[in-house]
Amino acid sequence: MLLDMEIVIRPARVSDVTLIHGLIKSSIEESPILNAEAKKDGFRKYGLSQLHDLLSKDNNIILVAVGPTDTVHAVILLGLDGGVVHLNHMVVADSLRRQGLGSLFIREVLKIAKQLSAHRVTGFTRSNDIATQVLASREGFSIIGHCANFWFAQDYVLWSRAI
Ligand SMILES: CC(C)(COP(=O)(O)OP(=O)(O)OC[C@H]1O[C@@H](n2cnc3c(N)ncnc32)[C@H](O)[C@@H]1OP(=O)(O)O)[C@@H](O)C(=O)NCCC(=O)NCCS
Repeated sequence: MLLDMEIVIRPARVSDVTLIHGLIKSSIEESPILNAEAKKDGFRKYGLSQLHDLLSKDNNIILVAVGPTDTVHAVILLGLDGGVVHLNHMVVADSLRRQGLGSLFIREVLKIAKQLSAHRVTGFTRSNDIATQVLASREGFSIIGHCANFWFAQDYVLWSRAI
């Protein structure tokens, strides 16, 4: 199903942080993929003050997808390091999933990576996160590594796409 509203993807602003925080917090609470320790870390890492801090750092890129009333419906947090754009976290509001927003974000990230002269876009995903892996594969990414018993003793795959 395609979204039935106009969506704009733009850099996050300080005024978006409360909505971004709410989106990330509820996705962590509801996640069937993260274990308890990973959830605890997610709440800490993406707290309100940490998000403000990330927004103020040059090598971090936070993008939001907003609807006609400028409400934040999705967020993606990126890091830029050594010519690689790394996808740190992506959340689409529960009610808008499977309508192409995640794919739209990934395509925007590829455009931005090109503008930044990055040579690669990568992301780690828990091995049981099928949604993100299918999405990444559909957008031309390949799995380039497997990391067993990694962060919070969960298994991960590393996927990547050259620019
Ligand atoms: C992962 C996530 C960002 C995907 O966003 P989305 O907007 O639903 O993705 P899209 O609508 O663009 O999906 C594109 C394709 O990916 C695949 N896909 C997406 N969600 C899927 C799911 N739950 N199961 C299987 N495949 C899925 C499908 O092939 C889908 O195409 P289709 O709907 O035509 O079958 C979203 O599910 C989410 O926010 N999850 C919670 C947070 C999270 O786990 N983030 C990832 C870790 S950083």
